[in-house]
Amino acid sequence: MPKTKRPESLMIQAVKNNDLKKVTALLKHTTSVNDTDRDGRTALWWAIHLKSGEISELLVANGGELERSWLQIETGQNTLAEVIKNRGVSDLNRCKLFILTGAGISAESGIPTFRSPNGLWNHPDSQRIATHSHFVKSRKSVINLHVKLKKLMKEKVPNQAHFALAALEQQWLGDLLVVTQNVDNLHFKAGSLKVPKLHGCLSEKRCEACGRVSQWTTEDLDSAPCSKCMRSTPHRPNTVLFGEESHQHEMALRAAAECELFIAIGTSGMVAPAFSLVGLANNAHKIEINTEETEVSGLFDEKIQGQAHIEVPKLMKLLGVRI
Ligand code: APR
Repeated sequence: MPKTKRPESLMIQAVKNNDLKKVTALLKHTTSVNDTDRDGRTALWWAIHLKSGEISELLVANGGELERSWLQIETGQNTLAEVIKNRGVSDLNRCKLFILTGAGISAESGIPTFRSPNGLWNHPDSQRIATHSHFVKSRKSVINLHVKLKKLMKEKVPNQAHFALAALEQQWLGDLLVVTQNVDNLHFKAGSLKVPKLHGCLSEKRCEACGRVSQWTTEDLDSAPCSKCMRSTPHRPNTVLFGEESHQHEMALRAAAECELFIAIGTSGMVAPAFSLVGLANNAHKIEINTEETEVSGLFDEKIQGQAHIEVPKLMKLLGVRI
């Protein structure tokens, strides 16, 4: 009796070849769309990862469950390192990766975090001043706070964690979004080109009349008219104060909800929208890199306790990024 291939492997091959006709023909047999190949991945999993849209819909219509991320199935209590060791996951760098960074990633670069004992919010006034309501009442004090922070961050340089994420941006084959809460511009200085800044950036100013954003290069905020609308309404720092909406919010929420691997680096998870992002990543294996436990540590599958400039390059190498 010649050895024949199980129908589902024909199904998975048809999916990998993006052969809609073949998939349709196979669906006429009793082939289950949820059978798995030797790596535990269904035809639907392959269709989604190979972005075969029409085939994915066809398989879902024929009972294919949009299963949770294979990472979550595989890891359970395991770590990503164990999954990779046991299965040598070849196409891990195609999965949807979402990374959120906070002040902790810049600690090694000499920028204090906000909530540590000698942190930027240590002075009770600072957090009270960095609010929209205070900006309306006393604009000058808010701008002075920004001038002080800008001075403190000016000469700082990226560390190995920032450079590792810049390398990741160059090499990752799947969907990737790295968002930062930081206003220090160190991701950009390290070579990352596509890191949306949830809270804006201290090296930028914004025209309050037309919203045009430009580089803030002077020490204080100059009163030069806006080069776009020519009005002489004052510029403001292009940061998001407490009580203001982050324009990058929606996009970050969507990406977090769709990702398969979620990594939070150096954030206390105390501020929206950051703390809601990890709660949205239901389909993902979630990793937290931090020197301490945080308010949201319980939401993560895996915690890497350590300093970002050491742990982030290690994790990127594990993900196959050449640093
Ligand atoms: N490596 C990794 N994590 C670190 C390191 C380090 N070297 N040093 C400190 N941490 C961790 C701290 O344990 C803490 O959990 O970084 C986190 C920094 O937390 P916060 O100071 O609260 O900063 P962040 O989470 O980025 O704050 C978010 O709040 O005040 C607003 O706009 C401000 O963007 C900021 C937002």
